[in-house]
Amino acid sequence: MNPDFLNNYKLEGQSLSVIKYPDPILSKKAIPVTDFNSDLVNSCNNMLYTMYHAPGIGLAAPQVGISKRFFVIDIQFEREEITNADGEIEFRFSDFSPQVFINPKILKKSGEILYQEGCLSVPGVYEDVKRYEKITVEYQDLAGETKTLEADGLLSICIQHENDHLDGVVFIERLSGIKKNFYKKKLEKEKKRKIL
Ligand code: CO
Repeated sequence: MNPDFLNNYKLEGQSLSVIKYPDPILSKKAIPVTDFNSDLVNSCNNMLYTMYHAPGIGLAAPQVGISKRFFVIDIQFEREEITNADGEIEFRFSDFSPQVFINPKILKKSGEILYQEGCLSVPGVYEDVKRYEKITVEYQDLAGETKTLEADGLLSICIQHENDHLDGVVFIERLSGIKKNFYKKKLEKEKKRKIL
């Protein structure tokens, strides 16, 4: 897999299992990426493949068990559900616009925006979260080159949500005290139930 696979993206890869809250890896601060090698490229490709099929618009490395500072995003792709002749459901994907952010740092932030967020690690929970409306983010690409991006709206929200994962913060931590405690208790109970 070549680092420029993003430019001519093909939906090929391996599905990874997404770790669910409250697994301890999701609360851990991830370490910076130092090796820009083929393992990193393969991880990003497989994370995109997993994200598209979930479907989701962002996925951070700790969510697939890699406690390192990178995530993938695509806020634009389309997924169409098609029922084939046998009555089976298939998905057709189009308009890919995959992005990879390695060692991101949010340099500037301004404004306020409220948006109903969800997370592949917290299935079934959707709640309004307050974020900065505009951000400037510095990050490295797959070749290790430093880039700067100004983002607003959904892209800004998504970068902040994924960046939180790198700091061990899941979006329910951003909710008001009452809601946060409600979900934490509920999800911890559900996890225990599965073990029994
Ligand atoms: Co998430």
